[in-house]
This record gives sequence, structure tokens and C-alpha cells, in this order.
Amino acid sequence: MSGADKEIESFSEAEAHAEIDRLHELLSEADRLYFENDAPDISDAAYDAMKRRYLALEIAFPQHKRADSLSEKVAGAPVDGFAKVRHEVPMLSLAKAFTDQDVIDFAERGKRFFERDKDLDLVFTAEPKIDGLSASLRYEDGVLVRGATRGDGAVGEDITANLRTIKDIPHTLKGKGWPKVIEIRGEVYMTMAEFEALKARSAAVGGQEYVNPRNTAAGSLRQKDPAITASRNLRFFAYAWGYASQEPAPTQFDAVQKFGEWGFAISPLMVRAKSVDELVAQYKKIEELRSSLGYDIDGVVYKIDSLELQRRWGFSSGEPRWAVAHKFPAEQAFTTVRAIDIQVGRTGTLAPVARLSPVGVGGVVVENVTLHNEDYIKGIDSNGLPIRGDEPIDVRIGDTVVIQRAGDVIPQIVRVVLEKRPAEAVAYEFPHVCPVCGSPATRELNEKTGKEDSRRRCTGELICAAQAVEQLKHFVSRGAMDIEGLGTENIELLFSSGLVRTAADIFTLRDRRTEVQAAFAARREEQSRLREEASGKARKATRSVEERSFEGLDKLFAAIDARREPELDRFIFALGIRHIGETTAAALARTFSTIVELRKTGLEAAAAGGDVHEVFPSVNGLGDTIWEALRDFFENERNVAVLDSLLRQVTPKPYVVTISANSQVAGKTVVFTGTLEKMTRGEAKAMAERLGAKVAGSVSKNTDILVAGPGAGSKLKTASELGILVLDEDGWLDLVKQ
Ligand code: IVH
Repeated sequence: MSGADKEIESFSEAEAHAEIDRLHELLSEADRLYFENDAPDISDAAYDAMKRRYLALEIAFPQHKRADSLSEKVAGAPVDGFAKVRHEVPMLSLAKAFTDQDVIDFAERGKRFFERDKDLDLVFTAEPKIDGLSASLRYEDGVLVRGATRGDGAVGEDITANLRTIKDIPHTLKGKGWPKVIEIRGEVYMTMAEFEALKARSAAVGGQEYVNPRNTAAGSLRQKDPAITASRNLRFFAYAWGYASQEPAPTQFDAVQKFGEWGFAISPLMVRAKSVDELVAQYKKIEELRSSLGYDIDGVVYKIDSLELQRRWGFSSGEPRWAVAHKFPAEQAFTTVRAIDIQVGRTGTLAPVARLSPVGVGGVVVENVTLHNEDYIKGIDSNGLPIRGDEPIDVRIGDTVVIQRAGDVIPQIVRVVLEKRPAEAVAYEFPHVCPVCGSPATRELNEKTGKEDSRRRCTGELICAAQAVEQLKHFVSRGAMDIEGLGTENIELLFSSGLVRTAADIFTLRDRRTEVQAAFAARREEQSRLREEASGKARKATRSVEERSFEGLDKLFAAIDARREPELDRFIFALGIRHIGETTAAALARTFSTIVELRKTGLEAAAAGGDVHEVFPSVNGLGDTIWEALRDFFENERNVAVLDSLLRQVTPKPYVVTISANSQVAGKTVVFTGTLEKMTRGEAKAMAERLGAKVAGSVSKNTDILVAGPGAGSKLKTASELGILVLDEDGWLDLVKQ
């Protein structure tokens, strides 16, 4: 009987030792394929069975438990590979307020937006901002059918089984009056008591360390085994909703109270407030209660109470305009700067990083902190004014510094403690050549402002290994081409082994299977050599591991093939052109519809040089910086060559405007001119965009509708000449039926 089938009770010591080693190797390899390649090669059931057997052997033969036992590592580690869920209504983030003035500004913006509604008194809600992770729970006919993480806001992961273990989440809605379909949203969190108890349990068995309740709650939610999630006693507060077949109530406050009636836990600290003073009073009250709540909160969220007004005010860049998170002040800590390293980014920016003596602040251990750029190190901003105190104070290796971290905000150096500066500390000299490729690193002059760019950049472009590899990582990343299994480590490996130099090479990897196989095998050998060194034990390569890694490669090649017809906006974003982020890439896709058209216009702009307005169209939201970046990209022959070889491998799909079913104006270009009487210009624009229209500033042959109020001038004339549909304000409201 082979070790694999044998009953644990009948094992000899030697057999148990060998079987633990065998399972350790198989499970480690399965984990590696899972985590690094996102390409599991065995079924979940087979994995679980192996894992159970491994754990049982460890318990039966504790003397043979390995120093690097997987029982410690994997029990608390998150598992990848949950099914993806596209949120019907995106899960947004919140704008932040740090001072009372920011809150006053928020209320003022509201007043200005609704200034036409003379007698309107804005009412808000105020409630704690829970420091956990948001989740969306879909109920159909009152039954919980799916629960998902926020993910990137558009696509999350299906963690229904894990969410079901949370006692604050009803499996069926109580009471009555719930809509046929509703997605309840709220925050999953871990109480401090539960966190401390888990830490104590883990410490007792020499288990893993847990950083803070939030990260632990996140890890607990991403368990493959819901029993582990259940054991973590997570909690949930409902505070919002996504898709709802029927509005839960006319106001935010009443909607959330209904959630309470339907069986959810809701925050008892939520109130209505009629003024900034009342909002700030609730903020102070919650701040005072903060340490006695028993769970972490990191601020107070204010929302406009009326759902009607929320809709009218709308959204901007992924955040509701009608809500703001008033954050609590950041925590601070002292530490010392051990070193200053320079990292070279995707666009060649030399980014200095301070390596710190590790220090706990705001619930996490901080070891690195960005120093932004050379002026920042010197202690001045882009206008030459001091940024830390009244005098420019530079940061030196050896300095004692105060760092600050607030919630999800990245840590910052806020102060240098000059009294503690060592006598031998010298001012840091920022390199003028790229530390990776040796090319000159320069600060560009901004022609418009006449000022130097704050960042020094490597001029090596693609000959710079750092830029090339960062560019590749960006290309395959989630928001870009999203090639599963090609994570940071694999890209670095493929680049350093010469198999992938530019993005096009990724798509020919399949033709070079043997070389790819060899590169992966070499890395595996290297890793196991290091493991052996660490554990002092020899390890035999087994045939099954080899075979399974072949299957992993097939999955990788399939994932690459699956991206040969990317969406145009993703493709444009993936090119990594300076200043062209996801939103701009989408606007460019809408504007040009195909990559052929974009390439043609880009080359025309490059040939014309100089003024970008001669070639590129006038599009709202696409300014000179973007057009110049696009022209510069096409001016560089190497970029065009890389693009062209890429286009021999992939065919981006033409961009098609999706017209929302009940909007008359989706996909249309609208221009507003003259005085509007029933709404402000901002409100009109927000409404049009909400209905899927593009709003332009000037009339051209691409305009579909001109909405002209009293006093309209040349735009009205041009529109009439071009035969464009002209509506007055009532005509427009009629068309959109609002
Ligand atoms: S409302 C459309 N209310 O904060 C607005 N969010 O920065 C949806 N959060 O992702 C969010 N407590 O995870 C809202 N009482 C609260 C909250 C809250 C915590 C989190 C949530 C969201 C993040 C936004």
C-alpha cells in the first residue's frame, strides 16, 4: 500500500515523516500555482482532502511537524479564486473631509448646487464610518442569494458562504415591505474583543500574527472554508444599498431604519442633522465615544438625507457628491531613517523611499515611507516654500522623524526632530543618473509655467530595464489587460530571462513553450534550493510536480489567449501613455472608436508637431496635457514599433456606446448655452451625464442637441446653421422626462 492511501493510525514514524514531507510539497506547489499563477491544478476537494490528511498527521506525529509547517501559514491565509461578481450598481468610495472647514465647504457646495430651490433646507445624516470592508448582499423575494466583496468597486468576489456565517446578516428578511430585489450594503468588521481573543488563541499555539482587526476581518472573509470565517465571529452594519427594484424609503435615514426592521444591525449612532453645527456636534460626540465602542471607526460619514436630492446632485469621479467622510485625526509615531533608496517607476520617475526602523502606527507596522521627490527631501514644495515648519528642513539618513498614518491613507513624514539629528548626518544627494540603467535623469521644464517638474526622470525609456519591466507589469495589470496568472513575479522572471521584452512578446510565449518551461523550472529549483538551505533538508523533485506545472503553463497560455481581443479602453490604458489613466482611456475610446483611428490621428499629430488643436478633436474632459502626451507617444518611433507589433498579436474591439434602455439622450452630445432657469449649469450637466449623454463646451458638427436658454448667442447661430436640434429648457426636460 502506498503512503498516499494508508490509514494514518498504521503509520510508522518514518512513514509519517515521509508522508508529511510528500504532502507538504504537493500542497506548497498547489498554493504556489493558486497564488502566483491563479491557476489551481487540483480540485478544491482534492486540496482539502490532502490538507486534512496533512493536519491529521501533524497531530498524530507532532515530533515530525516541520519547522515550516503549512498549518501555521495557510490556516489564516486568504485564498484566491472566488468567482467574480459584477456589481449591478458600482460600489463607490467617499470624498474625505479633514477639517471643520472641509465640512462647511461640503454644505456650501450643496447650497450652491440647489440654489434655484429657494426654500430648500438641506438635511443630512451623520453616522460612524466603520473601519472594516464593505460587502453587498443581494436579496431576491427576501432571501439572501448572493454576497460579494467590493473588489475594485465594479467587480467583486462571490463570498456568499462566508457572509452567511455573520449573525448580523439575515438569511431571509424579516417584517414586510422589502422590495422584490434589493442589494443591501454595509461594513463587515471585527470587534476588538474578538480580535484580542483570536490573537491570544493564535499565540497559544505559536500561530500567525494578526496585524489589526480590519486586516483580520478581510482575511477571515476570504477563507475557502466558511467554518473558519464562522469561527471569527465577524459583525456587519447595514448603511446603504445598491440595486433596488423599489426605493426602500424616500430618505437615507428612513431607509436604514427599515434595514433594522428587516433584521440587520444598524448603527445606533446615526442621526439627522440640519446644519453644519449639528453635523460637527455629532462628529464630536462620536469621537468621544470612539474608544468605548468596542470596534474601530475612522470618522463620521455625512450624507444628504433626501434620496431625490442625492440623485439630483449625482456623482463625480467615482464618488457621490452628496456624501463625505469626516475623518478623525491621524495617529503619529517616532522612528529613524535607516536609508534612502531610489525606485524607478513605469514612466521613469525616480521615486525616493525612506527605509525606517519598523514602528507601529495607526494599527500597522510601517517600515517604508515615500519621500516623493528631491524637493520634498530638501523640505520645500514646488514653489520653493518650506513644507515642514517655517524653515526648509531636509530629511537625512540617521534622522529621527515623526510619521503619521490615518486609516487607509499612506504614511507620511510630518516632522524631522532636529534636536536628535546625529552630528555626522549629511544632506542627501539626489542622483542625477538613473540607478538602474545609468541614463541621465533630468527634471523637465514645464513650458507653460516655466517651472521645473518636481520629479527627476530617467531618460532611458525602454532601454531602462526598470521602466520596461514596470511598463509590462502595468500592461498585464487588473485595470489594463488583466491577464490572470501573469503577476509581478512572473513578469520579472520572463523579463530577466529575456523571454518578454515588450508587451507583444507576451502573446508569442506559447510558441516558446520549452524556454518558458525552463525558466519556470529554474526558478522552482532556485526556490527549493533556498528552502533546503533554510530547513537543512534535502528535497526530491517528483514527476507529478513536473507534470502539474505543465498544466499550469497551459492555463497561463489560455489566459493570454483570452485577452487577444481586449476592450479598446483597457487596451489604450494598458499602453501606459503618460497622463492617460483609466478614465481618460475610456474617453479616448469613445472619441476614436477604434485603435486604427486613434493610431492614425496620433501619427498625424506627431507629423504635424506643435499645435495639437490642429489635429485632435475638441472633446470635453480631454485637455492639452492629454493630447500632448498622445502626440509625444506617437513621435517616438520605438513606441509606434511596439504598438504595431502588439497589434499583430491582438485586435482591440471597436468601442460601442451602450445606450441605456430608457434614456433618449444616451450617447448623444449635448451643449448647454444661455441662462437656465430651472437648474444650475452644473446640475444640467450632471443630469445629462447621468443619462449617458456627453456634454460639450462648444457646438460642432458632432453636437446632437443644443439646449438654449435666454441670452444664447453664437452657439445658437452655429447650431441653426448646422441643422442641429435646438431645445429650450422645458423642451430638454420634456425629452428626458424629469
Ligand atoms: S456609505 C455611496 N457609510 O467607507 C456611498 N460607507 O470610503 C457608499 N464605510 O467603501 C458608502 N462606514 O466601506 C458609507 N457608514 C458608512 C460607512 C462607509 C464605512 C466605508 C465603505 C466605503 C468606504 C468609502
